[in-house]
Amino acid sequence: SENKLIAVTEDLKLDEMTGWYQTAVGLVPTMGNLHQGHLSLIQRARQENSTVIVSIFVNPLQFAPNEDYQRYPRTLEQDQQFCEQAGVDAIFAPTPEEMVVPQKSIQESKVTQVIPPSAMITGLCGRSRQGHFQGVATIVTKLFNLVQPDRAYFGQKDGQQLAVIKRLVADLNLPVEIVGCPTVREASGLAFSSRNQYLTATAKEQAAALYRGLRRAEAAFLAGDRNSNKLIALVQQEVAIVNTILVEYIELVEPTTLMSLEKVQEEGMLAIAARLESTRLIDNIILRDR
Ligand code: PAJ
Repeated sequence: SENKLIAVTEDLKLDEMTGWYQTAVGLVPTMGNLHQGHLSLIQRARQENSTVIVSIFVNPLQFAPNEDYQRYPRTLEQDQQFCEQAGVDAIFAPTPEEMVVPQKSIQESKVTQVIPPSAMITGLCGRSRQGHFQGVATIVTKLFNLVQPDRAYFGQKDGQQLAVIKRLVADLNLPVEIVGCPTVREASGLAFSSRNQYLTATAKEQAAALYRGLRRAEAAFLAGDRNSNKLIALVQQEVAIVNTILVEYIELVEPTTLMSLEKVQEEGMLAIAARLESTRLIDNIILRDR
């Protein structure tokens, strides 16, 4: 406790020492256009660190040539106010030039790449977003080296990304602790995402079916259903009620290794990706006995 500290020099007072030994930097990496999901990461970082830094960088390396890099919402002024109100100490918002990355996808750029294990990036979102996780792993490594945080905060919303980054940090011995944070949702159950604003009001209502499907499977899981095909079918049925939703995948994987599961033993991540009005949405739920 604080009282047990003894100042070794006369000019260092005890109350000055209390903050000193707790010094820690928390980093929240984002692509900006901040919302409630980002806010929950910032608040968690605020609780656990003396300094909180938010990085804002729309990373060209993680967008394939046919994806929404150009149209991705850029709202730096609004984000600055958001951060100020949230008690953030500093924003790191470099340009692509300052980050030394060309405004090209990872495949087209000639930069050194960080490549996660292929077993973790060939399934789920990796199937349709080739190069995406290489782009994420590469930029996150660069952000860690530039900011040198003690802790970094990531959302469970992007469950595959969280698993890939935990593995990256372990495999490359990066001196940072990765903190996973729960998914924050709108009242309808739709997970907050910067891409939700591409949706019309009608589509936004319809998009809530993703989480309804996941919850239906969760209820079955908690009632004793362990079979993946059965649980996946329940999500499929629920989502199919909204015929404008085009499912890309529904998969049940082990949350750390992302290996496909036939049966949930201890823990599973039930994940979905779908298109609605050409906007790509993802969500997932962790299945575990309570
Ligand atoms: P971005 O999509 O801006 O998300 C930044 C962080 O916020 C990620 O860790 C994401 O999982 C988290 N997040 C987004 N929506 C959330 C929600 N509804 N609830 C909880 N957390 C949520 O993810 C990225 O940026 C980029 O890939 C990045 C890691 C910054 C690398 O470029």
